[in-house]
Amino acid sequence: MYLTNEEELIYNGGQGPTLQKMMEILVALGDIYGADKLIPIKSAQIAGVSYKTIGDAGLEWISDLKGTAKVPAVLNPMGMDRNAWESMGIDRIFADKQEEIIRAYERLGIKAECTCTPYYLERPRFGDHLAWSESSAVCFANSVLGARTNREGGPSALAAALVGKTAEYGLHINENRHPTVTIKVKEPIHGAEYGALGYVVGPKVGDGIPIFTLKTTPSEDELKHLGAALAASGAVAMFHVLDVTPEQYILPPERMEVGRKELENENDWQVPSRYFLPRNNIEVDLNAVKKLMQEHSEPDLIALGCPHASTAELEDILRALKGRKVKKEVWVCVGRSAAEKDAGLIDALRQSGIKVLYDTCMVVSPAANHFKKMMVNSGKALKYVPSMCGVEAGIGTTEECIEEACR
Ligand code: F3S
Repeated sequence: MYLTNEEELIYNGGQGPTLQKMMEILVALGDIYGADKLIPIKSAQIAGVSYKTIGDAGLEWISDLKGTAKVPAVLNPMGMDRNAWESMGIDRIFADKQEEIIRAYERLGIKAECTCTPYYLERPRFGDHLAWSESSAVCFANSVLGARTNREGGPSALAAALVGKTAEYGLHINENRHPTVTIKVKEPIHGAEYGALGYVVGPKVGDGIPIFTLKTTPSEDELKHLGAALAASGAVAMFHVLDVTPEQYILPPERMEVGRKELENENDWQVPSRYFLPRNNIEVDLNAVKKLMQEHSEPDLIALGCPHASTAELEDILRALKGRKVKKEVWVCVGRSAAEKDAGLIDALRQSGIKVLYDTCMVVSPAANHFKKMMVNSGKALKYVPSMCGVEAGIGTTEECIEEACR
């Protein structure tokens, strides 16, 4: 991989051992994936924050580093709400360790904004190169915003933050962003069904790039849930939705023209080779999606906000409450700063008895481990809760979750 003089100086230790180590990580990845050079990034988002997931070894690794982030950098959710850890049932030892981790990142110039929806803090622009590691945020940035990031690991995102660059490979390159498989969904779907769809489709797609043909036009929140679940149950880092997501223009325009015309013929799923949809296609069994949505009886915890809730999602929850108080334990997870603008909504939710938790989530916090069955409205949480928390999980719509909470 070609390095500039300055990059080579860093690689050889001329700017200290931390930057040298970081540059070694970037160069090693670049060499593995065939990058020609490093490219500047606009921001970094770093996973590996909860003490539950990184433990003492992770804390020690971060604490030994010295340096300052060269680009705006934020963190993934941590293991607790810093102001409400006691009411979450978190013990002091965990809380102290978690604080140490956050302070270690802060010493590196990384903001203690712990969110899996960093695009609510600052929305990347189309074509921006990023180094993000939260898989749902990666999917959202690539697919919905047209920004460019690989699925970084925590250490490689941190390396990119401290160097201000990443190796140019994978989804930073045009031709790697084309769809590889067509997913046909032949009936309208709504709300949490998008998460269930991603949960069902993810394993079939693996690390491919699906393009969906849908009967409904998804909202941004529905796309967020689709991508989060695809990334969790598969290893998807980017998807397209025909005529919805912004990046179909990278396909040759004359093919785009053909594609649009032929799609008007509802029965024409047999696409000719010149058509831009991949011939490799999967027809989704919507019965599997609907069945999944029915398996959520008797939860003792209802947890919403995976990925962290948007303003529109908070409004949906409030609407579903219809002025009632909840009778079960209910959590809604949000990023702290993003939530400041929604202070009124959050107050109203708290008055109904809901716990609105900042900068943490039902998966990365040990607090959820005490429950038996969790009801969620997220395909990603459905996938991770059993393995990460040892808790059974079921998925329902936001309205069903709130009905269950008020029963
Ligand atoms: Fe975010 Fe936690 Fe879900 S990090 S995407 S709320 S599992």
